[in-house]
Amino acid sequence: MAKPKVYATHSLFEAAREILQKNCEVEYWAKPGRPPREEVLRRVKDKEGLVCLLTEKVNEELLGAAPKLRIATNVAVGFDNIDLAKCTKRGVVATNTPGVLDETTADFAWTLLMAVARRLSEGEALARSGQWKNWDLDQLVGTDVWGKTLGIVGFGRIGRAVARRASGFQMKVIYTDAVRATGDAEKELKAEFWEMDALLAEADFISLHVPLLTETRGLFGAEKFSRMKPTAFLINTSRGPVVQEAALVAALEAGKIAGAGLDVYENEPLIHAGLKRANVVLAPHIASASLETRTKMACMAAENVVALFAGKRPPNILNPEVLKTP
Ligand code: DGY
Repeated sequence: MAKPKVYATHSLFEAAREILQKNCEVEYWAKPGRPPREEVLRRVKDKEGLVCLLTEKVNEELLGAAPKLRIATNVAVGFDNIDLAKCTKRGVVATNTPGVLDETTADFAWTLLMAVARRLSEGEALARSGQWKNWDLDQLVGTDVWGKTLGIVGFGRIGRAVARRASGFQMKVIYTDAVRATGDAEKELKAEFWEMDALLAEADFISLHVPLLTETRGLFGAEKFSRMKPTAFLINTSRGPVVQEAALVAALEAGKIAGAGLDVYENEPLIHAGLKRANVVLAPHIASASLETRTKMACMAAENVVALFAGKRPPNILNPEVLKTP
């Protein structure tokens, strides 16, 4: 029997390729960089499966170009690149990679937090420049992290993993979320639920961990920044459009907040020129980028494809109603 045809917009990792090969005939985009849109649209024409990254929009256009498509599996936990309603309408299963990247992403939120608080980018630039003349008492003085208050916006798996790390720094942890955590979870993480405005006024570091939804798009704008302490820092490892970049730049310029650590941007890969300043640490969307985690993500995506074509329910299905429709 002919194997179902799958297009993967990345060569993935060997471990994921081995999984896919079990029951699929796979074509990979193996060149450097992301495939041009026309290439993706051309390749999906005769495919029943698509393994894609968050850089590919799975929308009406792509679904229209892929009449045989049965599954689109995202190698990412965030799936704002997938038009879920359109997939469901077309009977296309969509999947993501929840769980496997929580700890790695939390590590990186902390990396940004520590780096911006302690002015690591500036220090590293000075150390490499050949211009470092001497130790000095007030040279590159930053701000303490230990003992401060960490405000977490979005208390899902990643937000909680960030909270868990705070106890080693003797920090007070406060969080806000549309849904309050259970008493047991709050106790275990030593985290208190606060309303958003109160959290903004109290936290020394605010770390964002919400998915990109209609309700969270542009969540952080001028009004929120004006409520933060002028000594506070914003950390974003969630999705760029959760923050209004122009408003963030204005807040930084006006000294309404002390700085930011950013991994994600409104219009990736473009970065607002106003963010390229000393009190902002910038990373190119790499919070989950450890070899272990990215390999797990790719394998998870592959397993979802293999499951569907083996007649099973893909473990990370986002629109299970598709499987129920006759
Ligand atoms: C995701 O998975 O959504 C991240 O942004 C990339 O790991």
